[in-house]
Amino acid sequence: MDKLTPPPVIAIDGPSASGKGTVAQRVAHALGFHYLDSGALYRLVALKVLQAGYNLHDETQLADAARNLNVVFQDSAISLEGRDVTDDIRTEQCGILASQLAAYPGIRAALTDRQRAFRQRPGLVADGRDMGSVIFPDAALKIFLTASAEIRAQRRYKQLMEKGINANIADLLQDIKNRDDRDRNRSIAPLQQHHDAQLLDTSSLTISQAENAVLSWYDEIRAKNRV
Ligand code: CDP
Repeated sequence: MDKLTPPPVIAIDGPSASGKGTVAQRVAHALGFHYLDSGALYRLVALKVLQAGYNLHDETQLADAARNLNVVFQDSAISLEGRDVTDDIRTEQCGILASQLAAYPGIRAALTDRQRAFRQRPGLVADGRDMGSVIFPDAALKIFLTASAEIRAQRRYKQLMEKGINANIADLLQDIKNRDDRDRNRSIAPLQQHHDAQLLDTSSLTISQAENAVLSWYDEIRAKNRV
């Protein structure tokens, strides 16, 4: 790869709780690539908005808050204004508000450059909703990673329990369906399988099987010398 060629990107998009974060992190680790959890940025904006008590209808103020977020990502820890918020941003309250705020064009625009800045050598694995369609349209590999809503509710339940956060499967399933509707039907950067993305349905796959599927697609691309 010459110095002028931008570092390769693997874009993994998909719905809530599909397991794309876990798969993306493992693929990044296996390849020695950087990792971008773009949903964490929307969750950070939500946490900031909750803490500051901003008016949810004042899009200009919300976009300013998104643009000026003082965030540090270090390994798997995330801090906001010097305070560790790694677990705080994972609550359902933050997730739901993140999905509402993510429908504001001004907020999405305010986060665009911050996301692109993660594209560093030797490469990047980025997960979210619009990684392949908007943020990294020239990604070497685009994947739409999904699973049935029921399986996703079970996965989210297990994940929250492991973190000691109380949850109820029926509520989680309803929340996942609501979030799918909101993410799919918004006018800006809606969640959808991009025409050039590979579909990876993980409903009956283990995490390792899903990781291996991504790695072998990427190997094929490398073998064809396109990266
Ligand atoms: O963990 P989960 O998959 O539920 O959500 P997340 O990836 O942490 O993202 C939280 C919310 O941010 C999602 O419901 C999306 O509405 C929004 N989001 C987005 O609009 N675009 C992205 N690239 C990433 C997240």
